[in-house]
Amino acid sequence: MRLDKALGWAGMTRSEAKKAVRAGRVTVDGRIATDAGMDPGAGEILLDGEPISRPGHTHLMVNKPAGVITATEDARWNTVMDLVPQEMRRRGLGPIGRLDRDVTGLVLLTTDGQLAHRLISPRHDAPKTYIAQVEGTLNPEHASAFAGGIALSDFVAKPAEMRILRSGEGGSLAEVVLTEGKFHQVKRMFAAIGHPVIALTRIRLADVSLDPSLPAGGVRFLTPEEITRLYRAAGMTQEET
Ligand code: URA
Repeated sequence: MRLDKALGWAGMTRSEAKKAVRAGRVTVDGRIATDAGMDPGAGEILLDGEPISRPGHTHLMVNKPAGVITATEDARWNTVMDLVPQEMRRRGLGPIGRLDRDVTGLVLLTTDGQLAHRLISPRHDAPKTYIAQVEGTLNPEHASAFAGGIALSDFVAKPAEMRILRSGEGGSLAEVVLTEGKFHQVKRMFAAIGHPVIALTRIRLADVSLDPSLPAGGVRFLTPEEITRLYRAAGMTQEET
């Protein structure tokens, strides 16, 4: 979408928007915009230093550090919402699924409750990809065990892909793709094969990857392409964002 059209969200006509750009009153991600026809993408647009609010739903990506919980508020712990800068906060923003307090990486926040519900519902099986650092030496038999469905005390996990990235005496590193998300599931699956998890990071959820340039604790808007992929994974028609 063109910048002058996006400025319509702030109540400006196209020609007013063009004038505002010419006068240097508009920034996109901190840089003064010079071209009213540019595509600001998911960049932050400020008019006279004030953020303009976008219509429709808001979708954010958070790189969750350890020690922060995936909730909207908590009396004891910092939550992922505490990481969201004031100007990005919207009423109704909440996480799509959860990560344990000690688990790091990709958390998506959205104001679209239906999207969140669909993506975590077992019916849609949105894949989640994790990098797990585990104790001991993993071998291909462990990967076969994951592919066959690991029996835990209260259920049998769905077949999951586990790719060994590094394996040695001092520990191993593996990528795991799950299509379900039960409590402590990755940790429980590795514990069940005798290789407890030392550290766990989520790097992907339903076709959206953690932005490698986002530092721990960092937050950004999803790009239009990421939003489209998310809605597609949920089997929903994308609303205007
Ligand atoms: N599996 C876990 O064990 N913990 C998480 O937070 C996510 C997946």
